[in-house]
Amino acid sequence: MQKKEAIATDDYIPDESKQGEVLTAETQIPADAKQFYVESYGCAMNFSDTEVVASILREENYFPTKEMASADLILINTCSIREKAEQNVRQRLTVFNQVKKNKPATLVGVLGCMAERLKSKFLDEEKLVDIVVGPDAYRDLPKLIDTAKGGERTINVLLSREETYADISPVRLDSNGVTSFISIMRGCDNMCSFCVVPFTRGRERSRDVFSILAEAEDLFKRGYKEVTLLGQNVDSYKWENPETKEVVNFAQLLVLVSKIHPDLRIRFSTSHPKDITDEVMYAIRDHENICNYIHLPVQSGSSRILKLMNRTYDRPWYKQKIDRIREIIPDCSISSDVIAGFCTETEEDHQETLSMMEYANYCLSYMFYYSERPGTLAERKYEDDVPLEVKKRRLKEIVQKQKEISHANNLSTIGKTYRVLIEGDSKKSDKDFKGRNSGFLLIVFPKKGDYKVGDYVNVEITSATSNTMLGKIV
Ligand code: SAH
Ligand code: SF4
Ligand code: F3S
Repeated sequence: MQKKEAIATDDYIPDESKQGEVLTAETQIPADAKQFYVESYGCAMNFSDTEVVASILREENYFPTKEMASADLILINTCSIREKAEQNVRQRLTVFNQVKKNKPATLVGVLGCMAERLKSKFLDEEKLVDIVVGPDAYRDLPKLIDTAKGGERTINVLLSREETYADISPVRLDSNGVTSFISIMRGCDNMCSFCVVPFTRGRERSRDVFSILAEAEDLFKRGYKEVTLLGQNVDSYKWENPETKEVVNFAQLLVLVSKIHPDLRIRFSTSHPKDITDEVMYAIRDHENICNYIHLPVQSGSSRILKLMNRTYDRPWYKQKIDRIREIIPDCSISSDVIAGFCTETEEDHQETLSMMEYANYCLSYMFYYSERPGTLAERKYEDDVPLEVKKRRLKEIVQKQKEISHANNLSTIGKTYRVLIEGDSKKSDKDFKGRNSGFLLIVFPKKGDYKVGDYVNVEITSATSNTMLGKIV
């Protein structure tokens, strides 16, 4: 789920709660407004956080710009998940530093997981960075900006047990106006031995159910047709109403969101195999608008490696989960994350990962080779002993395996008709639309009649290339 994007001013979507301040592409930005430029890296949660930051900055009269050189404030929302992610950030900082050299008044701020991981070390290592802010400290940004304007480099990386930014209405950036993320929880209480997230995001906490419903309703009113509920481990969502003491779990939350409108689709990510319940599967089965798609990262197919990874399930247990999903929701698409070359991984372990991918018949996988992260359990306890070339070769085999599975799955859809939500023009041609079915399959099809972005259409699959499904509106 690694992606990189810069935001666009003309995609600024208004926050209706700020009555009388509806902004569109045509809106003149006030002459006294300040401009910020932001790039986000890492997972969807980070992209979602950037929208919270944009909202906080909006209160300070900062508007987003695409032009780095003209910005008063340059921000980068960072990821620490693998070493490569951090190297990317360092490279981007050299570019920002160049801008700052030409225009010293520009402030450069580092947000997110790498800020949290490195804390004040960041200020020591990157002399041109003015502000360092961790994921739970964004409310402090206006103060930090003021301090930095006064010439003092500044930092807040305090983690919180409560912060969920529940009351902040995110400013949608780079939006297609149809699909959106909604953050439902923060942090992670699992301790997967390879993973840096518990250190960068802190303890798990769930967001107020009413604020989630209000955000989803608001999006639907503005024309959005799909929301993805986000958390590192959504199945452990649990919110207690402080007044009634009533507890809402994830399955109940899904059903509540699904009741907003039959035309509002719901997706969610990520499910941890140990926590997904039958109740969640029944919610998917029984509600047409809860999508038939579960992202259920396996990480490895070997029980021995899973134990070292501290995933708390083993191979037979994971297979049973897959069986259970197929039993309750026969046409459910399942996707995964896979790590190649974790500490002590043998060829046999690797083969077990490949055979697990076949067993689960993943529609897609996010695939990585293991990257040791400072401070994690694996870094402290195990030797990163699989040579890089072996990791890379195994990853290549995993990628190849997924290609084969996807290709076979894609071919099997030819002739079938799916309900597809139109998300926008296809990448290649403005004569074609792209959209997804409930199972997250991306389909490209020629425009027809008055259908427009945000409409649902029935699309029959006519052919499949290795990555794209082609179809026609029927
Ligand atoms: N909360 C999610 C995962 C978040 S991180 C879950 O539990 O599934 C996204 C993915 O990055 C992980 O699923 C894992 O496959 C990968 N990842 C995490 N740490 C990694 C590391 N040190 N090296 C390589 N891949 C890693
Ligand atoms: Fe990391 Fe595991 Fe938490 Fe996912 S569940 S964020 S992999 S510690
Ligand atoms: Fe990266 Fe932080 Fe997400 S480490 S994957 S941005 S939670």
